[in-house]
Amino acid sequence: MSYAASEAPKREVFNSRNYFILAAIGSAVGLGNIWRFPYVAYSEGGGAFLVPYLVALLSAGIPLLFFDYAIGHRYRGSAPLAMRRLGRWTEVFGWWQVLVSFVIAVYYAAVVAWAAMYTWFSFSMAWGEDPAAFLFSEFLQLADEPTVGFDFVPSLFLPMLAVWGITLIVIALGVNKGLAFANLVFMPLLLVMFLFIVGQSLFLPGAIDGLNALFTPDWTSLTSPGVWAAAYGQIFFSLSVGFGIMITYSSYLKRRTDLTGSGLVVGFSNSSFELLAGIGVFAALGFMAQAAGVGVDDVAAGGVGLAFVAFPTIISEAPLGSILGVAFFGSLVMAGLTSLMSIMEVVIASVRDKLGISKPVAVAVVGIPMAAISISLLSTTTGLYFLDITDEFVNKFGILAGSFAAIIAVAWISRKLPQLARHLDRFSSFPAGKMWVGVMGVLVPVVLGAILVSYAIERIEVPYEGYPLRLLGIFGWGMAGSLVVGAIIITLLPWRNKAVTEFDEDYNEHEIAARAEGVTQ
Ligand code: ALA
Repeated sequence: MSYAASEAPKREVFNSRNYFILAAIGSAVGLGNIWRFPYVAYSEGGGAFLVPYLVALLSAGIPLLFFDYAIGHRYRGSAPLAMRRLGRWTEVFGWWQVLVSFVIAVYYAAVVAWAAMYTWFSFSMAWGEDPAAFLFSEFLQLADEPTVGFDFVPSLFLPMLAVWGITLIVIALGVNKGLAFANLVFMPLLLVMFLFIVGQSLFLPGAIDGLNALFTPDWTSLTSPGVWAAAYGQIFFSLSVGFGIMITYSSYLKRRTDLTGSGLVVGFSNSSFELLAGIGVFAALGFMAQAAGVGVDDVAAGGVGLAFVAFPTIISEAPLGSILGVAFFGSLVMAGLTSLMSIMEVVIASVRDKLGISKPVAVAVVGIPMAAISISLLSTTTGLYFLDITDEFVNKFGILAGSFAAIIAVAWISRKLPQLARHLDRFSSFPAGKMWVGVMGVLVPVVLGAILVSYAIERIEVPYEGYPLRLLGIFGWGMAGSLVVGAIIITLLPWRNKAVTEFDEDYNEHEIAARAEGVTQ
């Protein structure tokens, strides 16, 4: 009778379920909540967007969260190891997710670094009269033409180095002393700062116009497939599902854990924060529009435009602007750092498992080269173009396509959903049961498949944001394709200790049942 876990190096364990929940919320609440959600909601139907958003949350986000938890917790490994234990060749889907995390980490770190610099700039309002000119010409020194280039911008180097340094040190410290501790410090601070932002924004003149713009429903938008794709894309990225994070985190949970109860807390906390961010951001944009004497639609923006152009403008005009600026950019830094740590944990843990090396060594051999790649691609005059294209493609053809493939493999080829449902239900307060099996086996793949096909057609017909095809070919389609090729190649490489990949389902059923006594976390 083999029981692989006894042969594997001892796996780290979160000291308490609350640490896990906090780390999972820390991972979920990130740039996606603050700079992506408000604008996606506004531009994809306003108040009506809440319908596809809630449908996506309940029909795919939470079920997929349970899916990741069940795989990580049952098979106790990083995404590739857990997938390999689930089925001989399903390992490839684990590496696909790891490579998605790799790509996201490369550009995510840059945004966190820019936000850190803008926290500092907020004291003096260094952007002056024209925040757009400051951002593009002075700070990023953006090349006029979108292209692939390596013209270095020295002022972007140090903040990126600091972000990577902090992230890698926290990961090397381990799940309790590093990840859990960082989240214990950053998450309460983030909440307090964000409540301050929302409170202050709501009392600015014009706030109500911003909220009206955000929440006024455009019901006709519900007939557009793009709106539904946006809702599912937003939920996946924001909940941190489908790119290995939740598989990795749940592999660090004690055996007796209420998995579904934890998932519901994480899912609803993330969406609550997202709504809060929408309210804060649009109240502030309402103020900006009134101050400029224009409509909210003239100032509404998302992503880089929202954070680094609209917000500096608001900060310059609002009473106590510097404090608002420190709170806003400080929130972006804290939310971004805790998410970046979780994304990097996916990469480090998987290399560690495959090569059978210690965590600090894995950080050194993978984390440092990744930092070098990230800094050399993003501290350049063309970094923003790379970020924009890669972010779009990795979300759709990395996270959504990778999740679709993994679900098909687990549900229809390995046929493991009933087993995973039993695993979820063993210690959980909220039953997953047959309903979850049906949702994951039929509803989610059908919806994801339809979204992917319609999105792919749209992208082929209309080049993303009008970028040159050569650039889209490299950073977009090329990058998305190389995730799959890379995953296949890494899967073919041998495990240092092949014994860790073995998993005896019957023995584990028996072992888990034998521990059925005791207190559930
Ligand atoms: N879930 C993280 C975010 O929303 C990745 O930014």
